[in-house]
Amino acid sequence: MKRSNFNLVKFLNQQQNIIKDEHVFEPTYLPECLVHREEELSLLANHFKSVLSKSNSNSGKHIIIQGPVGLGKTVVAKKFGMTFEEFSRTNEDVSKISYFHINCRRQRSWYLILTSILRRLVPAFPIRGFGVDELLTFLANIVNEREHGLLICLDEIDYLLTERSDHDVLYSLIRHHEGILHLKQVPISLILITRNPHFQTLLDTALLSSLCNSVIVFSPYNNGQMFDILSLRVQKGLHENTCSDDLIKSITSLTINNGDARTAIELLWRSAKVAEQEKSPRINFEHIRRAKSSLFPIKRSVITDLSQQQKYILQALALLLKNETSCGFVTTKELQEKYCEICTEAQILPRKQTQFWNYLQELAKHGIVELEVRNRHHNGKSAGRTTMISISDIPISELLPLLE
Ligand SMILES: Nc1ncnc2c1ncn2[C@@H]1O[C@H](COP(=O)(O)OP(=O)(O)O)[C@@H](O)[C@H]1O
Ligand SMILES: [Mg+2]
Repeated sequence: MKRSNFNLVKFLNQQQNIIKDEHVFEPTYLPECLVHREEELSLLANHFKSVLSKSNSNSGKHIIIQGPVGLGKTVVAKKFGMTFEEFSRTNEDVSKISYFHINCRRQRSWYLILTSILRRLVPAFPIRGFGVDELLTFLANIVNEREHGLLICLDEIDYLLTERSDHDVLYSLIRHHEGILHLKQVPISLILITRNPHFQTLLDTALLSSLCNSVIVFSPYNNGQMFDILSLRVQKGLHENTCSDDLIKSITSLTINNGDARTAIELLWRSAKVAEQEKSPRINFEHIRRAKSSLFPIKRSVITDLSQQQKYILQALALLLKNETSCGFVTTKELQEKYCEICTEAQILPRKQTQFWNYLQELAKHGIVELEVRNRHHNGKSAGRTTMISISDIPISELLPLLE
């Protein structure tokens, strides 16, 4: 029998010859230096400054941060919130503030959000047994008693707040003198981060007036800015002389379409991985090209080999999702309507409900679409279940040309 001479321990011990610190490329990495977002940071500081004043510490301020994916909304809010908390802790003359960064994609209900905040404030807080209204009252009472303000960032709020969801808790937090709380003063401030350019249309006029048009819109990075962001990651995360400026420029131009730093950083990291896999001493253009094609995780042939009917369904879905107001998913009803529209245009008969559903299930089996069943609520009561459909892994801009 042939014996393997592969030495796993030696392999694990081997130093990575391109990547110096893998952590620098992870989504949770908080860079020390946030370039080209000085204006946004100072807008936040100006907006929230008054919350620190001891004479005026008992009422919150709120703001909306808006913009598409990858523009630094999350890192800017985190950087600001953490610095703000630290500043309040180390300065005697200002009110104390704790910062909470909540990702609403992970914590999709007010119950989960409020219990997680309460558990940090009161570690022995019981996990179960309270309704959302009670949790909210607890929270307001604790912060009032302790005279300790909270700055809560609800990141990706689009997952929590939809047209169909209940807005009562947000209402209570922002208009605390009305709603469930009925308190004069609650030192809770909110940062609401949304990808939806029409987020404001979800809010009623009372909420909107309380937010007083406090919105910071993030704009896409341009070539030069993206180059700087990538150069900093190269310095921190890669060994010296493994990635030239020309390569950084190439990654910049390949990903500049949406001005999205997340994709650019991911492409840099993948290119480094490809180079390492090949035991190359530095990254080259071919590594970038190979890494770029791996960013498209589903083989093109899987898409091009679909039946015509499935292509129409997928095209309808992609067209709906391309519109940012969809917030990343659509309902079965919305999809079926769009699909029928496309069939009518193509002068073919759309398939009936059952067949449409079967096709959709097949697309999900291929991993092309994702189906998620959600409970619906209307006026605080359960209103049955609905399936939400999304595409998470394939960029729409690459998918649509394959279908047309
Ligand atoms: N100005 C910047 N300086 C350094 N890194 C940045 C900057 N803007 C974004 N990034 C990085 O780009 C990636 C995406 O940023 P993120 O804040 O998650 O974007 P968004 O929340 O807008 O989708 C993260 O890795 C983040 O650290
Ligand atoms: Mg984000």
